[in-house]
Amino acid sequence: MTGPANPAPEPLISAARIAARVDELAAEIDVQYAGVDDLVLIGVLKGSFIFLADLSRRLTVPHRIEFIAVSSYGDAESTAHPGDVRLIMDIRHRVYGSHVLLVEDIVDTGHTIAYLQRLLAARGPASLRTCALVRKPERAEVEVPVDYLGFDIPDVWVVGYGLDWAERYRTLPDICVVHPEP
Ligand code: IMP
Repeated sequence: MTGPANPAPEPLISAARIAARVDELAAEIDVQYAGVDDLVLIGVLKGSFIFLADLSRRLTVPHRIEFIAVSSYGDAESTAHPGDVRLIMDIRHRVYGSHVLLVEDIVDTGHTIAYLQRLLAARGPASLRTCALVRKPERAEVEVPVDYLGFDIPDVWVVGYGLDWAERYRTLPDICVVHPEP
């Protein structure tokens, strides 16, 4: 045997609840951006890819899609140190003067979103808002505005619906909790 053992995922938020919430978020976003013709959804790779796919297909407001990828040094628990967020893949087209909606999988300490909000705000978008699937309020280290939120969850490691643990479990339909060995 090589590598860590697979912890068994336990369902936390069902696919049906996720789908219902994504419908609600899309409806809110449609209202907010009614009449806007230059909305850009920026998905944060990799974890947001399923959420972004579902959300964007439920929107009726016209929009384009961009992707951005960030990483952090070291630690499997993502952002070990506040300054450690790195841009590893930038968006392809400029967002100057466009309405930008950042689509993130999870807000944990908040450092990743804070970094991305600073980065994108500096590029002169007409507006910049953030949509996150889940947030862990107990883990917050920096205050970040989240304009559209799927669910607040406790301080647990979640997988599924795009979220991973060591690159595993991204394709589980439910959001599940895993308890990795320390
Ligand atoms: P933050 O910078 O601490 O807010 O970390 C955000 C990033 O950490 C997310 O984009 C995820 O990549 C990762 N992350 C934090 N918590 C979890 C989790 O419970 N499951 C999967 N990834 C997580």
